[in-house]
Amino acid sequence: MANQHRKLLLTAATGLVAAASVLALTPTASEAGSSSWLPNGEPNCAVLKCVALTYDDGPSQYTGKVLDALSAGGARATFYVLANPARQNKKMLQRIHREGHEVGNHSVSHRPFVRLTNWRIRYELRQTDKSIRQAIGSKPATVRPPYGSLNARVLRQLDRPAILWDVDTLDWQHNDPSKVIQAVKRDVRPGSIILMHDTKKASANATPGVIWALKQRGYRFVTVSTLLRAQKPKAGKKYRHLRPAGTTPKTWSWQKPA
Ligand code: NI
Repeated sequence: MANQHRKLLLTAATGLVAAASVLALTPTASEAGSSSWLPNGEPNCAVLKCVALTYDDGPSQYTGKVLDALSAGGARATFYVLANPARQNKKMLQRIHREGHEVGNHSVSHRPFVRLTNWRIRYELRQTDKSIRQAIGSKPATVRPPYGSLNARVLRQLDRPAILWDVDTLDWQHNDPSKVIQAVKRDVRPGSIILMHDTKKASANATPGVIWALKQRGYRFVTVSTLLRAQKPKAGKKYRHLRPAGTTPKTWSWQKPA
Protein backbone atom coordinates (compact mmCIF):
# COMPACT_ATOMS: atom_id res chain seq x y z
CA MET A 1 0.00 0.00 0.00
CA ALA A 2 2.76 2.38 0.98
CA ASN A 3 4.80 1.59 -2.10
CA GLN A 4 1.81 1.88 -4.33
CA HIS A 5 0.98 5.21 -2.79
CA ARG A 6 4.49 6.50 -3.38
CA LYS A 7 4.66 5.25 -6.95
CA LEU A 8 1.38 6.82 -7.87
CA LEU A 9 2.39 10.05 -6.27
CA LEU A 10 5.50 10.16 -8.39
CA THR A 11 3.50 9.35 -11.49
CA ALA A 12 1.23 12.25 -10.77
CA ALA A 13 4.19 14.51 -10.14
CA THR A 14 6.34 13.61 -13.10
CA GLY A 15 4.00 12.24 -15.75
CA LEU A 16 1.46 14.97 -15.91
CA VAL A 17 3.39 18.17 -15.62
CA ALA A 18 2.40 20.42 -18.46
CA ALA A 19 2.83 24.10 -19.13
CA ALA A 20 1.81 25.66 -15.88
CA SER A 21 -0.13 28.75 -15.23
CA VAL A 22 1.62 29.64 -12.06
CA LEU A 23 -0.34 31.03 -9.19
CA ALA A 24 1.17 34.32 -8.22
CA LEU A 25 0.58 34.64 -4.52
CA THR A 26 3.35 37.06 -3.75
CA PRO A 27 2.18 40.67 -3.84
CA THR A 28 3.11 42.63 -6.93
CA ALA A 29 3.34 46.40 -7.25
CA SER A 30 -0.21 46.63 -8.57
CA GLU A 31 -1.50 44.53 -5.70
CA ALA A 32 0.35 46.38 -2.99
CA GLY A 33 -2.51 48.84 -2.64
CA SER A 34 -5.25 46.24 -2.72
CA SER A 35 -6.98 45.17 0.41
CA SER A 36 -5.44 42.48 2.58
CA TRP A 37 -8.88 41.17 3.50
CA LEU A 38 -11.81 39.97 1.46
CA PRO A 39 -15.31 41.39 2.06
CA ASN A 40 -16.21 38.17 3.93
CA GLY A 41 -13.38 38.78 6.41
CA GLU A 42 -11.04 36.14 5.01
CA PRO A 43 -7.44 36.86 4.06
CA ASN A 44 -6.80 38.05 0.52
CA CYS A 45 -4.28 35.44 -0.54
CA ALA A 46 -3.17 37.55 -3.49
CA VAL A 47 -1.67 39.91 -0.89
CA LEU A 48 -1.10 37.98 2.34
CA LYS A 49 0.91 34.79 2.86
CA CYS A 50 -1.64 31.98 2.90
CA VAL A 51 -1.43 28.27 3.48
CA ALA A 52 -4.06 25.54 3.23
CA LEU A 53 -3.88 22.66 5.68
CA THR A 54 -5.59 19.56 4.28
CA TYR A 55 -6.55 16.35 6.08
CA ASP A 56 -7.49 13.28 4.05
CA ASP A 57 -9.26 9.94 4.42
CA GLY A 58 -11.42 10.70 7.45
CA PRO A 59 -13.38 11.37 9.46
CA SER A 60 -11.75 9.06 11.99
CA GLN A 61 -11.11 8.72 15.71
CA TYR A 62 -8.43 11.44 15.43
CA THR A 63 -10.53 14.06 13.66
CA GLY A 64 -11.82 15.53 16.92
CA LYS A 65 -8.29 16.07 18.12
CA VAL A 66 -7.36 17.82 14.87
CA LEU A 67 -10.43 20.06 15.19
CA ASP A 68 -9.54 20.92 18.80
CA ALA A 69 -6.04 21.96 17.70
CA LEU A 70 -7.36 24.02 14.77
CA SER A 71 -9.83 25.73 17.06
CA ALA A 72 -7.17 26.49 19.67
CA GLY A 73 -4.92 27.95 16.96
CA GLY A 74 -7.72 29.84 15.19
CA ALA A 75 -6.85 28.02 11.98
CA ARG A 76 -9.03 26.90 9.10
CA ALA A 77 -8.46 23.70 7.17
CA THR A 78 -9.94 21.46 4.49
CA PHE A 79 -10.98 17.85 5.07
CA TYR A 80 -11.08 15.50 2.08
CA VAL A 81 -13.44 12.83 3.33
CA LEU A 82 -14.30 9.35 2.06
CA ALA A 83 -17.96 8.45 1.49
CA ASN A 84 -18.31 5.67 4.06
CA PRO A 85 -16.55 7.30 7.03
CA ALA A 86 -18.56 10.43 6.20
CA ARG A 87 -21.80 8.52 6.29
CA GLN A 88 -20.88 6.79 9.55
CA ASN A 89 -19.65 9.98 11.18
CA LYS A 90 -22.22 12.61 10.29
CA LYS A 91 -21.79 14.43 13.58
CA MET A 92 -18.07 14.86 13.01
CA LEU A 93 -18.72 16.14 9.48
CA GLN A 94 -21.21 18.61 10.91
CA ARG A 95 -18.64 19.76 13.45
CA ILE A 96 -16.03 20.29 10.69
CA HIS A 97 -18.55 22.37 8.77
CA ARG A 98 -19.84 24.31 11.79
CA GLU A 99 -16.32 25.29 12.83
CA GLY A 100 -15.67 26.97 9.50
CA HIS A 101 -13.62 24.33 7.73
CA GLU A 102 -14.16 23.07 4.21
CA VAL A 103 -15.27 19.54 3.36
CA GLY A 104 -13.98 18.10 0.07
CA ASN A 105 -14.66 14.94 -1.93
CA HIS A 106 -12.07 12.14 -1.71
CA SER A 107 -14.08 9.29 -3.34
CA VAL A 108 -15.70 6.11 -2.09
CA SER A 109 -13.20 3.33 -2.72
CA HIS A 110 -9.93 5.31 -2.54
CA ARG A 111 -8.75 3.64 -5.73
CA PRO A 112 -6.58 5.57 -8.20
CA PHE A 113 -8.87 7.34 -10.66
CA VAL A 114 -6.58 6.57 -13.62
CA ARG A 115 -7.50 2.89 -13.20
CA LEU A 116 -11.26 3.50 -13.10
CA THR A 117 -13.69 3.82 -15.99
CA ASN A 118 -15.27 7.19 -16.68
CA TRP A 119 -18.55 5.86 -15.35
CA ARG A 120 -16.92 4.67 -12.14
CA ILE A 121 -15.14 7.98 -11.53
CA ARG A 122 -18.42 9.87 -11.83
CA TYR A 123 -20.12 7.32 -9.61
CA GLU A 124 -17.44 7.74 -6.92
CA LEU A 125 -17.87 11.50 -6.94
CA ARG A 126 -21.66 11.34 -6.91
CA GLN A 127 -21.85 8.87 -4.02
CA THR A 128 -19.38 10.86 -1.94
CA ASP A 129 -21.25 14.08 -2.67
CA LYS A 130 -24.38 12.35 -1.44
CA SER A 131 -22.81 11.28 1.87
CA ILE A 132 -21.50 14.78 2.45
CA ARG A 133 -24.73 16.47 1.46
CA GLN A 134 -26.68 14.27 3.86
CA ALA A 135 -24.53 15.52 6.71
CA ILE A 136 -23.93 19.21 5.93
CA GLY A 137 -26.45 20.02 3.23
CA SER A 138 -24.04 21.23 0.58
CA LYS A 139 -21.99 19.83 -2.27
CA PRO A 140 -18.19 19.89 -1.83
CA ALA A 141 -16.55 22.47 -4.08
CA THR A 142 -13.34 20.58 -4.73
CA VAL A 143 -12.13 17.00 -5.15
CA ARG A 144 -8.88 15.38 -4.15
CA PRO A 145 -8.23 12.32 -6.27
CA PRO A 146 -6.83 9.44 -4.16
CA TYR A 147 -3.01 9.29 -4.49
CA GLY A 148 -3.20 12.41 -6.62
CA SER A 149 -4.02 10.04 -9.46
CA LEU A 150 -4.93 12.18 -12.48
CA ASN A 151 -4.61 12.30 -16.22
CA ALA A 152 -6.36 14.23 -18.96
CA ARG A 153 -9.14 11.66 -19.22
CA VAL A 154 -9.78 11.71 -15.48
CA LEU A 155 -9.78 15.51 -15.47
CA ARG A 156 -12.50 15.53 -18.13
CA GLN A 157 -14.77 13.53 -15.81
CA LEU A 158 -14.54 16.07 -13.01
CA ASP A 159 -17.01 18.90 -12.67
CA ARG A 160 -14.88 20.89 -10.21
CA PRO A 161 -11.24 21.64 -9.40
CA ALA A 162 -8.97 18.71 -8.49
CA ILE A 163 -6.65 19.65 -5.67
CA LEU A 164 -3.29 18.02 -5.06
CA TRP A 165 -0.58 19.40 -2.79
CA ASP A 166 2.96 20.71 -2.78
CA VAL A 167 3.95 19.89 0.81
CA ASP A 168 3.81 16.18 1.55
CA THR A 169 4.25 15.39 5.23
CA LEU A 170 4.42 11.61 4.53
CA ASP A 171 2.62 11.10 7.84
CA TRP A 172 1.34 7.68 6.66
CA GLN A 173 4.92 6.53 6.16
CA HIS A 174 6.75 7.52 9.34
CA ASN A 175 3.86 8.27 11.72
CA ASP A 176 6.11 10.73 13.58
CA PRO A 177 4.72 14.16 14.59
CA SER A 178 8.16 15.82 14.62
CA LYS A 179 8.73 14.71 11.00
CA VAL A 180 5.38 16.18 10.01
CA ILE A 181 6.40 19.54 11.46
CA GLN A 182 9.85 19.28 9.91
CA ALA A 183 8.42 18.67 6.43
CA VAL A 184 6.13 21.67 6.76
CA LYS A 185 8.94 23.99 7.92
CA ARG A 186 11.18 22.81 5.10
CA ASP A 187 8.77 22.94 2.17
CA VAL A 188 6.13 25.57 2.89
CA ARG A 189 5.79 28.58 0.59
CA PRO A 190 3.08 31.20 0.14
CA GLY A 191 0.12 29.41 -1.42
CA SER A 192 1.20 25.96 -0.28
CA ILE A 193 -1.26 23.12 0.16
CA ILE A 194 -0.11 20.80 2.93
CA LEU A 195 -1.09 17.13 2.86
CA MET A 196 -1.85 15.37 6.13
CA HIS A 197 -4.30 12.63 7.16
CA ASP A 198 -6.76 12.91 10.02
CA THR A 199 -6.63 9.10 10.12
CA LYS A 200 -3.02 9.34 11.35
CA LYS A 201 -2.25 9.97 14.99
CA ALA A 202 1.02 11.67 13.99
CA SER A 203 -0.77 14.45 12.13
CA ALA A 204 -3.31 14.92 14.90
CA ASN A 205 -0.47 15.28 17.39
CA ALA A 206 1.57 17.48 15.04
CA THR A 207 -1.21 19.96 14.26
CA PRO A 208 -0.53 22.37 17.18
CA GLY A 209 3.18 22.45 16.25
CA VAL A 210 2.41 22.89 12.55
CA ILE A 211 0.15 25.86 13.31
CA TRP A 212 2.72 27.41 15.62
CA ALA A 213 5.56 27.04 13.08
CA LEU A 214 3.45 28.56 10.30
CA LYS A 215 2.24 31.46 12.45
CA GLN A 216 5.86 32.25 13.31
CA ARG A 217 6.51 32.54 9.57
CA GLY A 218 3.57 34.89 9.07
CA TYR A 219 1.12 32.53 7.39
CA ARG A 220 -2.68 32.80 7.41
CA PHE A 221 -4.71 29.62 7.37
CA VAL A 222 -7.35 29.38 4.67
CA THR A 223 -9.52 26.72 3.10
CA VAL A 224 -8.60 25.40 -0.32
CA SER A 225 -11.52 27.28 -1.88
CA THR A 226 -10.28 30.58 -0.44
CA LEU A 227 -6.82 29.85 -1.80
CA LEU A 228 -8.35 29.09 -5.21
CA ARG A 229 -10.15 32.41 -5.27
CA ALA A 230 -6.78 34.18 -5.28
CA GLN A 231 -6.04 32.44 -8.55
CA LYS A 232 -8.60 34.50 -10.49
CA PRO A 233 -8.97 32.10 -13.43
CA LYS A 234 -9.63 33.71 -16.76
CA ALA A 235 -12.94 32.86 -18.34
CA GLY A 236 -12.52 30.23 -21.05
CA LYS A 237 -9.26 28.87 -19.61
CA LYS A 238 -9.42 25.13 -19.37
CA TYR A 239 -6.64 23.71 -17.29
CA ARG A 240 -5.42 25.60 -14.29
CA HIS A 241 -2.36 24.43 -12.53
CA LEU A 242 -2.31 25.69 -8.99
CA ARG A 243 1.28 25.94 -7.91
CA PRO A 244 3.28 28.47 -5.95
CA ALA A 245 6.29 29.65 -7.96
CA GLY A 246 9.37 27.51 -7.50
CA THR A 247 7.70 24.50 -5.89
CA THR A 248 7.57 20.95 -7.11
CA PRO A 249 4.48 20.89 -9.26
CA LYS A 250 2.35 18.37 -7.44
CA THR A 251 -0.53 20.70 -6.81
CA TRP A 252 -3.21 20.79 -9.44
CA SER A 253 -6.56 22.25 -9.93
CA TRP A 254 -8.88 22.14 -12.83
CA GLN A 255 -11.88 24.16 -13.79
CA LYS A 256 -14.35 23.69 -16.59
CA PRO A 257 -14.28 26.35 -19.27
CA ALA A 258 -16.62 29.19 -18.30
NI1 NI B 1 -6.32 9.51 0.63
